[in-house]
Amino acid sequence: MLTSLGVKQGHHALDFGCGEGRYTVPLSQVVGKEGCVYSVERNEEAILAAKERLSLFSDPDVVRLLKSDDIEAAGLIPKKSIDAIFAFDVLQYIPDSDKLFLYFRSLLKPNGMVCIYPAAIPHPGDVDIKLIITKMKKIGLQYVKSTEYKMMHSADMVDDIVHSFKWIAG
Ligand SMILES: C[S@@+](CC[C@H](N)C(=O)[O-])C[C@H]1O[C@@H](n2cnc3c(N)ncnc32)[C@H](O)[C@@H]1O
Repeated sequence: MLTSLGVKQGHHALDFGCGEGRYTVPLSQVVGKEGCVYSVERNEEAILAAKERLSLFSDPDVVRLLKSDDIEAAGLIPKKSIDAIFAFDVLQYIPDSDKLFLYFRSLLKPNGMVCIYPAAIPHPGDVDIKLIITKMKKIGLQYVKSTEYKMMHSADMVDDIVHSFKWIAG
């Protein structure tokens, strides 16, 4: 799924709201030693679980696990440094998505991408993807595609959609 979305070896990625790190693990494996994954999470218990999981499956030099509840991740990630941002099953918790999307754009390198998994299954309608596409377009993030994958959600695997966007720098 990650490679088909465009993640490559050497990429710098952000896993925003990484939870227990279930997507951070494969991300770190795809970007490899030349790459880097910033994983931002606000919940202490999730951070502890992520640390344990990452110690088993990820290279510690590749992943930077950041505890933050500030949607701008307290300025910890360099601007214009990121190739791929993942906001998986998290937008339903973000009251100000405009601010978050502007922050994402500020982090992206030209041609960098944002991938959104609204996790419509099993709770449809929590995230309005049409509104998100409109908001992204307004700030110059071009809609690329919506693709169905086997997604990890809670304790289940579900067929669900990931939406991707590209920052075409002006
Ligand atoms: C449903 S979980 C999804 C975790 C992971 N992305 C996945 O798909 O498995 C959402 C996570 O986002 C985190 N979160 C929500 N708002 C956040 C914020 N403003 N900053 C950092 N983490 C946040 C929550 O603590 C939670 O762990």
